[in-house]
Amino acid sequence: MAADAGSERTAIGEPILRAEGIKRVFGRGISAVTALSNIHLTIPQGTMVALRGRSGSGKTTLLNILGALDEPTEGKVIFRGRETTRLSGRERSALRRKEIGLVFQSFGLVPLMSAYENVEFGLRIAGGPSQGYRPAVETALEKVGMRERMKHRPPELSGGEQQRVAIARAIAHGPELLIADEPTAELDSRMGLQVMQVFRELVRHSGMTVVLTTHDPGIMELVDHVIALEDGTIAPQ
Ligand SMILES: Nc1ncnc2c1ncn2[C@@H]1O[C@H](COP(=O)(O)OP(=O)(O)O)[C@@H](O)[C@H]1O
Ligand SMILES: [Mg+2]
Repeated sequence: MAADAGSERTAIGEPILRAEGIKRVFGRGISAVTALSNIHLTIPQGTMVALRGRSGSGKTTLLNILGALDEPTEGKVIFRGRETTRLSGRERSALRRKEIGLVFQSFGLVPLMSAYENVEFGLRIAGGPSQGYRPAVETALEKVGMRERMKHRPPELSGGEQQRVAIARAIAHGPELLIADEPTAELDSRMGLQVMQVFRELVRHSGMTVVLTTHDPGIMELVDHVIALEDGTIAPQ
C-alpha cells in the first residue's frame, strides 16, 4: 500500500534531520545574495519545530533545503542517516515522494475536486499503486478531522478546513517528516490554532516530525523548539 514506505521508522527522540554548515547563495558576482550561512541544527524525531524570523530572514530557503527541495551551496543535510545533499535530483525527488510531506501557505488544492479526490490525486502523484487508495485517503482525512466532509470541494470549505485537507494530502503516503511553509499565514487566529492542533496530533499519535515556518508569535507556544533566523543565520535564543 502507498502508506507503507517499507522502511524502518526512526526512534522517537533520535535525530531525524541534521544540517551542518549550510550556506546558500543565490545568483553570482555582484548580484549574489547570501540567503543562509553557517546553519547547524539537529531536529529530533517526533517533535514540532518552528523556524521563526522576519520576512527575508531565510526561513523558506532553509525549509526547502531541509525538505530536499533545494540544494545548499555548501554544507550537508542528513535525513534519517542519509546525506540528502549527495543525492541526484532524481533521487531527491524520489525521497520526497516517499518520506516527506509538503504543506504550503496557499493550500494548493484543486478547486473542482472534492477533498477526497484532492488527497487521492496527491497519492497518485506520489506514485503508489494504481488501486487501493481508499483506506489511505480516508485514514489521512480522519487524522485531520475532515473525513465527514470529504465530499466537499475546496470552495465549500473554510480556509482552516482547506488547509486540513492539504495536510491530509501531505500525509497520505505516510511520510516521517512534514514540512510546512507558513501554513497558518492565510488563516485567522482561530483557524490557525486548529491547524496547529492538527500538527500536534500528528506528532503525538502518528510519531511524525513537523518543521514549519511562521512569523506568528502566538504559534511559538505550541511547538517544542523554536529556531530563530536573523539575516540568514541562527540567532542566539
Ligand atoms: N530564488 C532566489 N533568487 C534570489 N534570491 C532569493 C531567492 N530565494 C530567496 N532569495 C533571497 O534570499 C533571502 C531569504 O529569502 P527567504 O528564504 O524567502 O526568506 P523568508 O522565507 O524568511 O521570507 C531574501 O533576501 C530573498 O530575497
Ligand atoms: Mg518565506
